[in-house]
Parts: sequence; C-alpha cells; structure tokens
Amino acid sequence: MIKILFVCLGNICRSPMAEYVMRDMVEKAGLSERFTIESAATSPYEVGSPIYPPARKKLSRNGIDASPHRSRQIRQEDYDNYDLIIGMDASNMRHMLRVFGGDDEGKLSLLLQHCGRSGDVADPWYTGDFDATWRDVNDGCRAILHALRTQYGW
Ligand code: 4NP
Repeated sequence: MIKILFVCLGNICRSPMAEYVMRDMVEKAGLSERFTIESAATSPYEVGSPIYPPARKKLSRNGIDASPHRSRQIRQEDYDNYDLIIGMDASNMRHMLRVFGGDDEGKLSLLLQHCGRSGDVADPWYTGDFDATWRDVNDGCRAILHALRTQYGW
C-alpha cells in the first residue's frame, strides 16, 4: 500500500484537485487497492470547507466527483502515516519542514519535480486560472503514477 498526501495552503484548490485526479488515474489503471490518496492544508484557514466551487466544476467537467472533500490541516504524525508527501509550492515545502521537523526519510517533494519541472503550481485562489492548475496537476500525477508503475513493475 502506497500512501500519498498532497499538500497546499488552503486544501480547497490545488491539493484536492491533485488528490481526486490521482485517485481517478489510479482507478482507471485498476490499481486502487494499492493506494491511499489524501490531501491536507498547511494553514487552518479553510478547515472543514469543501473544495472551492470552480475547482469542483473543473473536476466534474472531466468526470471526477470531488464533492466529499473537506479541508483538514497537516499534523506532525502525517509524516509517519504517508510514504509520499507532495507540496504544490516552495512555501508549502518550508511549512511542511517546520511541522514535520525535517525530512529524514526523504518523503517530501514538490508536484512539478515529478515531471522534471522546477517551480510552483500557481495558486488558482489568486490567479483564477483553474485550467493551468488542471494541466499542472495532471502532468504531475501522471508522472508520479508512471514512476511508481516502473519502480514496482505494475
Ligand atoms: P489552495 O488555495 O492552497 O490551492 O487550496 C488557497 C485557498 C484558500 C486560501 C489560500 C489559498 N485562503 O487564504 O483562504
């Protein structure tokens, strides 16, 4: 079982988009039983909130239902409970390193690193560009799944 946690600032736009896109990809690949996929916020700002409506709409137009989602904040014990903890931007990474007290086991990464890109997934909360986030999230998730399938021979 591979446990993945996607992390962003509010857990209502980018990380739930990544969570539900990754779940959809894994399901379509027939690999759901091998994964636990969740998401969380670095901030307390939106704890308990559903996914932001424009993000939910972008997903639903692509056949993905993210309506069960509720925002939660990361906790120190998340470090032990997940195998891959994937932030959306450099600020998320700084915050995670503080909460987790470092990254001794090399579990932390940024989403776009997985598809060979440096930099951040732009925050659509500020940019309003949910299409760009959709593309980045899909590129990153596809690359993660491809790498895991290669690594484990699935
Ligand atoms: P997210 O976007 O980190 O992609 O979920 C944000 C959502 C809410 C806030 C900031 C970013 N906020 O300040 O409430």
